[in-house]
Amino acid sequence: MSQQDVPIRLWENARVLSMTDEWTGGHVAGDGSVLVQGERILAVGPRSTLAAIPEAAHAERFDCEDRLLLPGLIDCHTHLVFSGSRATEFEQRLNGVSYREISEAGGGIRATVAATRQSSENELTALACNRVERLSREGITTLEVKSGYGLDAANEQKMLRAARALETLLPVSVHTTFLGAHAVPEEFEGRSDAYIDLVCEEMLPAIAQDRLADSVDAFCETIAFDTDQVGRVFGKARKLNLPVRLHADQLTDCGGAALAARFNALSADHLEYTSEAGVRAMARAGTVAVLLPGAFYYLNETQQPPLALLRKHAVPIALATDCNPGSSPVDSLLLVLNMACVLFGLTPSEAIAGVTIHAARALGLTDRGVLAPGKRADFALFDVVSPAELCYAIGAPPPVSVVRSGNPVGSPS
Ligand code: NIG
Ligand code: FE
Repeated sequence: MSQQDVPIRLWENARVLSMTDEWTGGHVAGDGSVLVQGERILAVGPRSTLAAIPEAAHAERFDCEDRLLLPGLIDCHTHLVFSGSRATEFEQRLNGVSYREISEAGGGIRATVAATRQSSENELTALACNRVERLSREGITTLEVKSGYGLDAANEQKMLRAARALETLLPVSVHTTFLGAHAVPEEFEGRSDAYIDLVCEEMLPAIAQDRLADSVDAFCETIAFDTDQVGRVFGKARKLNLPVRLHADQLTDCGGAALAARFNALSADHLEYTSEAGVRAMARAGTVAVLLPGAFYYLNETQQPPLALLRKHAVPIALATDCNPGSSPVDSLLLVLNMACVLFGLTPSEAIAGVTIHAARALGLTDRGVLAPGKRADFALFDVVSPAELCYAIGAPPPVSVVRSGNPVGSPS
């Protein structure tokens, strides 16, 4: 496309929540405009300022009718490529069997591994497409997808390719994460160190070479891998230039947050049992805390993540669905906003920062999550009066329109 063909578009008459002030969410400015050139934002501001920019004169115009315009939402932690259902485990838990007991009896993650190994890449992509479609209807323009239900080289690669394919089929950007160290596969029962050798020596180098993953995750927990094993995976990932993130301290305090910080992890996620030392280490390393109220809710957890400590040490807080068939069968990020406020006590401003600016940071993406010149033109327009309404109702209204890379979603680009 020549420079002349790059479309110039102007969204005007909006109440703009730019998120450029990460702690307050930025104030909502009325009669605001967003000027877009191609896939990037050229300017954001009041109508009078933007009218003075020469490009604005030729722009295609969109009237936002005084609606709320904010950055496209980002779901920074999902496991949405999978096959099968774990509704029977849900039933078992209601009959008093714990998530840990189900896992120790060979169910849990291993049940989804068995189903996922049997599905073809195309089947996995089709199943995941349905889940992503539901998310994107809510204004999600970027999402993260983990592997971790393959647990051998071929099946982990199959999952990552299925995740990458989503970006070509739907209007979302996909960040992929290799989660080979999610659980010890059945064939390695009692030999978890040997499985970690396989992850480090075969799976990770092959995945890095084919550029199938943008980051590397692990599950550090008494039912999964210990800090030494995760340390080996992270050491190898960093050597291959892949950033890391961690499922940390979800069921017990196993020093996961501090371990993540030691490797300058982009994020440490869950964190229900994280101590103040762990939070301090995250603050020093700049590691984002990703809270997952869906898993807290489904597992009937009573230990809340340490919100007061995260605030005290100014650790950025992100939120995500954790969409997966076991601990969080949730495919609504708007519902997660509500859950984070009601279950964890986040303010609506904190919750909205958690699915925009802080979620971008949890993925190491500096080009989105806020509305400012030079950033990607990803945004959503909601027919609500105040930002708090996005968090207030269960089943908050979806956006009336979504723009991704400067293109209105659903219209020909
Ligand atoms: O984030 N905690 C580990 N992994 C997932 C659960 C995966 C599963 O139960 O299938 C989580 O909660
Ligand atoms: Fe998870």
